[in-house]
Amino acid sequence: MEFDGVIKTRRSVRSYRDDPIPDDVLERVLTAAQSAPSANNVQPWRYIVVRDEATRKKIAEVALNQAFIAEAPVVIVCCGRNYHDSYSWIADNMFLVDCTISFDHLTLAARNEGLGTCWIGAFDHPQIKEVLDVPVGYDVVVLTPLGYPKSDQAFRPVSNRKPLSEIAFSEKFGRQ
Ligand SMILES: Cc1cc2nc3c(=O)[nH]c(=O)nc-3n(C[C@H](O)[C@H](O)[C@H](O)COP(=O)(O)O)c2cc1C
Repeated sequence: MEFDGVIKTRRSVRSYRDDPIPDDVLERVLTAAQSAPSANNVQPWRYIVVRDEATRKKIAEVALNQAFIAEAPVVIVCCGRNYHDSYSWIADNMFLVDCTISFDHLTLAARNEGLGTCWIGAFDHPQIKEVLDVPVGYDVVVLTPLGYPKSDQAFRPVSNRKPLSEIAFSEKFGRQ
């Protein structure tokens, strides 16, 4: 797909077919996540690919019972190693920036493959760590169902965004 088309039609997909995802497609999506930049090239992200149905259901349960998560044949969970970046004022939170950049690469690559995703930030952190055996030193940052959308309208272009005049300034904050 054209880059612009990928960006404009990546939508949150909350209804999935259960068709399997070919291994080469999944690998391309993960390779996009791998390619992301990170502070000092630390690459703190670790991805858990969950195919097991019982585990997917458990994840949906600890994610505020968002049942659609388990509908998809795969759930991808982004974990981050919580390192300290002494160069930045966000220091202990830099891994969240790194992981979200990588995860955005993943969601866009998924869209390019015709796969739906939905960023899921609402989950019980201690519970999801337990479900997935996430070790001390790592946190679960975000997760997504990954699968082919049920609706052929799933990738309609993004429209409900603030106007550029509200979010983009010239030279100084607030100046048009
Ligand atoms: C950090 C983050 C956390 C989110 N958490 C959830 C979530 O737990 N459940 C959900 O259904 N959508 C979640 N979303 C999806 C947003 O609601 C969605 O991206 C936003 O409304 C814009 O819609 P769009 O993705 O279709 O463009 C999350 C999005 C982000 C970026």
